[in-house]
Amino acid sequence: MSLRAGLVLWLGCVLAITLGLGCVLAGWHAAGSVRAEMQAALVTGRLSVANSIGENTESRELRHLVATFDGNRHVRAVLSGRPGETIAASVLQSPVQPVPDWFRRMIAPALMPVVLAVPSGTITLFADPTNEAGEVWDQMNDAIRSIVLFFALSVLAIYWATGRALAPLGRLSAAFGRIGSGDFAVRLDGPAPPELTRLAAGFNRMAEQLGDVEARNRVLQDQLLTLQEEERADLARNLHDEIGPFLFAAGIDAAGIQPLLQAGRTAEAVERAASIQASVVHMQTEIRSILGRLRPLSFGDTGLADSIGNMVDFWLDRHPGIDFVLDVAEAGDTLPEQTRATVCRVVQESLHNAVRHGDPARIEISVTRDAADVVVRIADDGSGAGAGGVTPGFGLTGMRERVRAQAGSMAIAALPEGHGLAVTVRLPAGAAA
Ligand SMILES: Nc1ncnc2c1ncn2[C@@H]1O[C@H](COP(=O)(O)OP(=O)(O)OP(=O)(O)O)[C@@H](O)[C@H]1O
Ligand SMILES: [Mg+2]
Repeated sequence: MSLRAGLVLWLGCVLAITLGLGCVLAGWHAAGSVRAEMQAALVTGRLSVANSIGENTESRELRHLVATFDGNRHVRAVLSGRPGETIAASVLQSPVQPVPDWFRRMIAPALMPVVLAVPSGTITLFADPTNEAGEVWDQMNDAIRSIVLFFALSVLAIYWATGRALAPLGRLSAAFGRIGSGDFAVRLDGPAPPELTRLAAGFNRMAEQLGDVEARNRVLQDQLLTLQEEERADLARNLHDEIGPFLFAAGIDAAGIQPLLQAGRTAEAVERAASIQASVVHMQTEIRSILGRLRPLSFGDTGLADSIGNMVDFWLDRHPGIDFVLDVAEAGDTLPEQTRATVCRVVQESLHNAVRHGDPARIEISVTRDAADVVVRIADDGSGAGAGGVTPGFGLTGMRERVRAQAGSMAIAALPEGHGLAVTVRLPAGAAA
C-alpha cells in the first residue's frame, strides 16, 4: 500500500472511531436528558391535576381538566371510570418530524404512569417521549452531518497535501532507477519541502561524484590498455633486436661446425662453439631482464629488493648517467603480498616520473620499516615541480588510490635545497586492503 493511501486510511479510521464514540456519548447524554424532561413533565402534570380537583368536582369539570392536556408535548392524560372504560383522553402534540423507531426505543425511558384518584374514577398521566426524541434526533442529525462533512474535507485535504508533499519522492525514486542503469547525468531539481530539498542536494552530489569516479575509471582503463600495448611493443622490439640476431648467429655457427670438423679445421670449430656459447649467455641475460620486467610484482623467489633492483636496472640501461642509490630493508620481504605490490608500484611510477619530468642526476630509493609502518621514499635531484607545484595526473592519482586502499598515507614535497622532488609513502606493515 502506498504511503499516501496508508496515511489517508489511518486517519480515516481514527476519524471514524472518534465519530462513533462521539455518537455513543451523545446518545447516552440524550437518553439522560429525555428521562429528566419526562419525569419533570409528569411531576408538573400531577401537580396541575391535584390542584384542580376536589371532593365535589363534577364529571364535566374532569373532562375539561383532561382537555387542558391537549397539545401537551410530553404527557397524555386519560380519564377512566370503571377499569377498562375510557371517558376522555387528551391528544398529544403531533411530532414535527417522524423519528425512527429504533432511535425512539434507544433513548426513550420506561417511566411508570402516574394514576390519580378522582370522584367516580381515575386520571392517568402517561409520559410520551416521541416529541422529545424527535427534538434530540434533529439535533443529532445536524451534529452528525457537520462531523461527516468535516471528516470528508479532512480526508480530502490530507490526500491532497500528502500527494503534493510526496511528489518529489517519486522523482527521487525514478532518478535512483536511472543511476542504477548507469546514467550519472541525472539531477533532481524543482520545488520540494525543505527536508526533501536537502535529500535532493545530497543525491545530486552523489550522482556528480559517481559520474566523476566513472569517468576517471574509464580513463584509467584506457591508460592501462595503452600501457599494456606499449609494453608489448617494447617486448617485441627487444625480442626482435636483442634475441633474433643472436639466435640467427648461433644457428649459422652451429651449421658451420660440422663441415669445419670434417675438414679437420678443429681450431675454427672450437671458435664457433665459443661464439655460440657467448650468444647463449647474451640471450640468457636479455631474457632474464625481460622476465624481470614482465613479472616485477610476482615475488615468488624474488625478494622486494630484487624486484626494485630490476626496475632500477631497467632505467639504468636507458639512462646510464643517473646515479641510483638503493636502500631496501630486508624486512620488506615479510610484508604482506599486497603491501609489497603497492611498494613496487609506488617505486615504479616515482622512478618513471623522476626520469620523465625531472632530468635528475641522482635518485635515492629507500624502503625502511619502523614498529608499525613501512616507509617508502623516492627522492630525485631533478628540476622539481616548479612554482606551480604538482598537478596530479593519472600516475599520482593511481598511486594515491593504491596507498589509500592499503590504509596508508602519501606526501609529495619539494626538497629543501630547492632541487628535485621526494615522494614519501607510509603503509601499515601488517595492512590488509
Ligand atoms: N619527480 C618529479 N619531478 C618533476 N615533476 C614531477 C615529478 N613527479 C611528478 N611531477 C609532476 O607531477 C605531474 C603529475 O604526475 P603524474 O605521474 O600524476 O602524471 P604524469 O606523469 O604527467 O602522467 P601519467 O598520468 O602518464 O603518469 C607531472 O606531470 C609532473 O609535472
Ligand atoms: Mg606519471
